[in-house]
Amino acid sequence: MSRIILVSNRLPVAISIHPDGGLEASRTDGGLPTALSALFAQQESVWIGWTGLRQSLTPAQLSSTDLPRGIIPINLSKQQVIRFYERYSNGVLWPLLHGVPAKVTLEAADFHALQIVLHRFADAIVKIARPGDVIWIHDYLLMLLPSLLRHYELPNRIGFFLHTPFMSTEFISQLPLTDEIVRSLQAVDVLGVQVARDVVAAKSWGLMAKSYPIGVDFEKFDRLAQRADVMRGYEELRQRYPGKQIIASLSRLDYSKGILTQLDAIAELAATRQDFVYRLNVAPSRESVLGYQDLHDAIVARVASINERFPIIDFTYENLNEREVISLLKATDIQLNVPIKDGMNLVAKEHVAARREPAVIVLSQEAGAADQLTEALIVPPNDLGAITASLRQALDMSRDEKARRWRALRRGVKHDNIQRWYESFMTDLTNTTG
Ligand code: F6P
Repeated sequence: MSRIILVSNRLPVAISIHPDGGLEASRTDGGLPTALSALFAQQESVWIGWTGLRQSLTPAQLSSTDLPRGIIPINLSKQQVIRFYERYSNGVLWPLLHGVPAKVTLEAADFHALQIVLHRFADAIVKIARPGDVIWIHDYLLMLLPSLLRHYELPNRIGFFLHTPFMSTEFISQLPLTDEIVRSLQAVDVLGVQVARDVVAAKSWGLMAKSYPIGVDFEKFDRLAQRADVMRGYEELRQRYPGKQIIASLSRLDYSKGILTQLDAIAELAATRQDFVYRLNVAPSRESVLGYQDLHDAIVARVASINERFPIIDFTYENLNEREVISLLKATDIQLNVPIKDGMNLVAKEHVAARREPAVIVLSQEAGAADQLTEALIVPPNDLGAITASLRQALDMSRDEKARRWRALRRGVKHDNIQRWYESFMTDLTNTTG
C-alpha cells in the first residue's frame, strides 16, 4: 500500500538526554509539527526529521529510544546543527523570507555541512521509499532537497510546502544558492505556499505555486476548551485580573513576531487607561541562533521599564502546555498579534477556535492569517499609532459588533481547518501525473 513520506526538519517528538545518559522522546510544539501530526495520525505514513539534539546518537542509543511508530530520526552532529540549522537556515534564509537582511555570511564549511545534511535526509528517503509512496517535504530549511531526490532518480511524486512567507526578489543578492533553490523547487510536482501574496512572490522567481492556507483543528480546540481542567485554568485567570479586560499575546521568541512593538503599543495605551492587563507569554526558541538572546534581553528590559510606570504586564518566558495555552486563549478578550511578517500565524486561528465568547484580534496585515481573518482589526505592523488605536477600539467595541465579527471568524476557521489544508494539498499531489 502506498504511504505518505513526510519530511521536515522538526519531528513531532524531540529526543533529550537525561544526566544519567537515558534518552527520552517528548512532544514538540510549533505550527509545523502540530499541523502534520493530524495527518500522520490518520494516514499510513512515515515521518523523517532531525532528532532535535546537538549531537549524534549511536544506533544502539536510537533503538533504545521509545519513538512513535513511523518516526525516522536524522542524526546531526553539533557542528552540522550550527551550520545547517543555526547559520544557513535561521541566520540567512529565515530573515530573508521575513524581509530582514541576512544575519550571517556563510562560509565554505557551512555549504559543506549543508550538503552533508541534505544527503542525510535524501538517503533516509531513498532507503524507505516504495513505488507509489508520495513524498511531502516541508519548509524553507529543506528547499534544496527536491532536486537532490530527482538526482537520485527517485520516481515518486514530490510535494513541497513552504510554511513561511515566500521571499521577494529584492533579496536575490543576499540569497546563497539562488539558482539551485529555484531549480529544486521547479523539480516538485506541487509547490504549495500559504496565501496569495506568496504565489505572486514565487512567480517573480519563475515558480508556479498554489496557495493552501494552513488551518487548525477547530473541533479539537473547541472541545478542549470545555474540558474541566481548562475551565479551571480559565476561571483562575479571570479571578487573577478582576474587572479587567485581558489583552494577550502568545508567541515564540522571534524578531519577526513584533514583540517589542506590541510592548510599545501597550505602554502608549497604559498612559491613558488602565482597564486592562497585558498577559504576554514568549516561548523560548532558537536561543543559540545569533540575535535571539539579545531579543530576549530587550523584551525583559522593556517589560520592566513599562511595569515601573504602569504595573500592567504579566510576562512569562516559558513553554506553556496545551492546557495552559487553551485556558489563556479562552480567557483572552483581545489578542494583540502584530508580526512584521508571518507565513500564516496559527495562534490567531487557535484563539478563534478555543473561545466561543466574542473577542477581538488586533492582527498584522503581514500575517498570512490576515487574508482569511478579515473580521479581525487588521493593522500595519510598523504603525504604532494604528495599533494603539485598534487596541482602544477593541477595548470599547460594543458586544453586538464583537459578536458579529467573532461569528464570522469562527465560521471561517471552522471551515478552513487543518483537514481541509492537507486534503487539498494531497489531492493535488496524488492527481499529478508524476
Ligand atoms: O515555518 C516556520 C516554523 O517551522 C513553524 O512551523 C514553527 O513554529 C517554527 O518555524 C519553529 O521553528 P524551529 O523549528 O526553528 O523551532
